[in-house]
Amino acid sequence: MTKAVDERQPTLLARAEKIAGEFDLSPDDVRSITRHFVRQMKDGLAHERVWQLPSYVRRVPTGKEKGKFLAVDLGGSNCRICLVDLHGDSTFTVSQSKDSVPPEVTVNPSYRPLFDFVAHRIADFLKGNENPQCVQGLKDAEQHQTYNLGFTFSFTCEQTSLAGGRLIHWDKGWDIPDAVGRDPCRMLQEAIDHLGLPVIVSVLANDSVGTLLTRSYTSGPTASTLAAVILGTGTNAAYIERLSNVRRLGAEPISDQIMIINTEWGCFDDKMDVLPRTPFDDELDEASTDPGSQMLEKRVSGLYLGELLRLTILHLMQTNALAITCNPTSRIFERHSIDSSFLSELAKAGSDRAQTTIQLIKATLSAEGVTETDARGIQLLASAIARRAARLAGASLAAIIIQSGRLKMSTKGTEHTYTTDDDEQRPQLTSRSSMRSIHRFIHDATLLWRRLLRLVGMGSLIGKPPIPPLSETKSSVVFQEDIIDIGADGSLIEFYPMFEVEMRRAMRDVPEIGPTGDQRIRIGMAKDGSGVGAALIAQAASEMQGAIAI
Ligand code: GLC
Repeated sequence: MTKAVDERQPTLLARAEKIAGEFDLSPDDVRSITRHFVRQMKDGLAHERVWQLPSYVRRVPTGKEKGKFLAVDLGGSNCRICLVDLHGDSTFTVSQSKDSVPPEVTVNPSYRPLFDFVAHRIADFLKGNENPQCVQGLKDAEQHQTYNLGFTFSFTCEQTSLAGGRLIHWDKGWDIPDAVGRDPCRMLQEAIDHLGLPVIVSVLANDSVGTLLTRSYTSGPTASTLAAVILGTGTNAAYIERLSNVRRLGAEPISDQIMIINTEWGCFDDKMDVLPRTPFDDELDEASTDPGSQMLEKRVSGLYLGELLRLTILHLMQTNALAITCNPTSRIFERHSIDSSFLSELAKAGSDRAQTTIQLIKATLSAEGVTETDARGIQLLASAIARRAARLAGASLAAIIIQSGRLKMSTKGTEHTYTTDDDEQRPQLTSRSSMRSIHRFIHDATLLWRRLLRLVGMGSLIGKPPIPPLSETKSSVVFQEDIIDIGADGSLIEFYPMFEVEMRRAMRDVPEIGPTGDQRIRIGMAKDGSGVGAALIAQAASEMQGAIAI
């Protein structure tokens, strides 16, 4: 290390720590974000907003659904064509093709190139070019002659029924102006008809809704799945709401019916009343295809975290704090060229494997002269950006859980704990069954008995507890019926170490949830759930037929 470099290293760490501090989100910040989001959710349920969008899905799978369905899953980066075989026992098999969507069709004056691209992928799939197994699957399903296709379209759409809707706006860097206001199912059908394929686009689904359905299907009827979160290229969540609360639909207040709501939480607080803001967030937003929009998504999702890190590193380089030099063709100089997986790799390398971190930085940024201090500084920035994202996701999930009313039923028998001020929205709770109280009493008494035996040195007499709880944490027992099950999908939650841990820390900062509520929350992966979810909606639509609209 040269003397000049040596001298600026302590400054670097101080500067990196200062910038990292700007990404901190205190428990108070989390609480006010959650409260604001609960208010926004209520507002979106009552009035037509671009969030809290009704999905028209009014029941959740039990795991018993059966049949073969074709699905298209068009997300922020890939297009997957799937043949989903629902086995009726909470399991399924999927044969699929997966292609990245060419960038030139995602930013285009016309919608036709995008939907032509998708239709061609369907044609290839039907021909069985990609996967001979699919042909067999489709032959089995051929009694219908035409295939009903479920379309998962991961962009903001106001649905008018299960079978269609209109695109409200693009995000995640896509920009096809003449598609806005049109029905994605119709645009796809037009391209399919042009190729003369025997396919009818029969249902439209958001990926968050699809993931929720897949999680419910695979978890079975007793799992009580409440919501699903997407933490990938984009971010969003769907949850189960009481239909009587969906006042924007003018629905009758029938208390025992439900509807899945696509929250579109990526655009929560676009007015920036409570969301945190750094100069790097502003720079990212100004250079985006949709400035002023998707402000939560721009702080949470994978598409943006790499870019935020790039901007902070570049800032430290330009102000001469970082000692590294980058090749002029380095990704550090190119917008959106750093993937969020870089943040995951930096976190995995940890602070005690300096050489691994240095090599990773050199390879990713085409950089030279990376010192241990540089590596530490970059790691600090990356973890601050990712921690803020996870805490924001936690604050948002807390809002969903509060709004859903699931917490209002305490784990203690008939006692109900109402924590929000909205009496009107109290669910019609029936008393918890006395069987459950007896169960808890026996379980607690058994634990006490075992402790006593241990105390008097007769621990060897301890057998298994007669009624084992389903999920047990250090400090308390959580019964199956108290579990609030959340499905999750996306690279951030799957690959970023500690993402879920940080989300949970934030949820515990919200008094309505706290440690007790946190213990009831189970988050499980519903990997690639969006395609299977579209098949599940197609299955439900084929059963419900005319009875699907409100
Ligand atoms: C964006 C889209 C939303 C989608 C999410 C995750 O936020 O607006 O519809 O669910 O990305 O893919």
